[in-house]
Amino acid sequence: MNGEIITIERHILEQQRAHPEATGVFTNLLYDIALAAKIIAREVSRAGLVQILGRAGTVNVQGEAQMKLDVFANQTIIRMNSYTGRLAVMASEEEPHIIPIPEGYPTGRYVLVFDPLDGSSNIDVNASIGTIFGIYRRKTSGGPGTVEDCLQPGRDLVAAGYVIYGSSTMLVYTTGSGVHGFTLDPSVGEFLLSHPNIRIPTEPKYYSANQGNERYWSEGVRRYTRWLQGLDEEDPRKPLSARYIGSLVADFHRNLLEGGIFYYPLDYKDPGKPKGKLRLLYEAAPLAFIAHHAGGYASDGRRPILEIVPESLHQRTALFIGNRDLVEKAEEFIARYG
Ligand code: AHG
Ligand code: MN
Ligand code: MN
Repeated sequence: MNGEIITIERHILEQQRAHPEATGVFTNLLYDIALAAKIIAREVSRAGLVQILGRAGTVNVQGEAQMKLDVFANQTIIRMNSYTGRLAVMASEEEPHIIPIPEGYPTGRYVLVFDPLDGSSNIDVNASIGTIFGIYRRKTSGGPGTVEDCLQPGRDLVAAGYVIYGSSTMLVYTTGSGVHGFTLDPSVGEFLLSHPNIRIPTEPKYYSANQGNERYWSEGVRRYTRWLQGLDEEDPRKPLSARYIGSLVADFHRNLLEGGIFYYPLDYKDPGKPKGKLRLLYEAAPLAFIAHHAGGYASDGRRPILEIVPESLHQRTALFIGNRDLVEKAEEFIARYG
């Protein structure tokens, strides 16, 4: 074995050196997120013990209240970032309103949006779950951050990343110059660079969608799915394999490394009111930013996710994300058949 061992701290610092104007605030913000990720990872690895050591909502032997993992992840990220003076405001999928910086503490230039625990239906069955985050520059000047600071399109992200709590814990992030993946070595508590410069492979392997919902999909999405399966007689292709976990982070991560597409299209159960499921701000936009910087693409079926200006914090969207040609093909089918 040879080659350098690069910790996430060192990597972030080296990226900062490439920007002589950087003050280090942003660098420290990324450290804080990595630290929150380690604390959440520790708790995730103990999740299965909850049944024997105490259930959420009960009090454990140390007299501490047991928390549900998504509440714990949410609180960890908020507590880690409230008092540092680096943020103006935060927004979380788990909170109905923006999260202000507590009174008496300084505010900073950045805005943090996050999904503290993604794939929560998978916690109890020991399948992979994740955390997603995005960082923006504040738009307002001075004073407490506002909802306007949070409602920015994905193209204005300055950084985005996710953590996957899988067979190992990994943190993947980009500040716009390459997508880099780090694996947590739990024995030393460090994220070590394991996947430098991730590019989505040009030859895709997988498609990922909840086909149980197919009867509620539009004609275009149904036909597109047949195309992915190699069943379109006019335009036959090599069929892709299906893989679906039901944790966006895990499904996205696999397709990023192996090539493919994840989609969660509009649901037409109520035909007059088609609905997306995933949240633009906490899920779609940060992953779209990462996909973009890894050579991929994300769309809501009609326009790039990165161009959508959110109108409300918890706005939902359809999402098609992965290899550019596969996502563009979905747009073509939707433009043609709806
Ligand atoms: P969350 O756990 O943060 O609410 O997100 C769940 C999301 C996402 O992770 C996943 O892709 C999707 O829900 C799965 O939905 P279905 O169970 O409808 O397939
Ligand atoms: Mn989620
Ligand atoms: Mn969540």
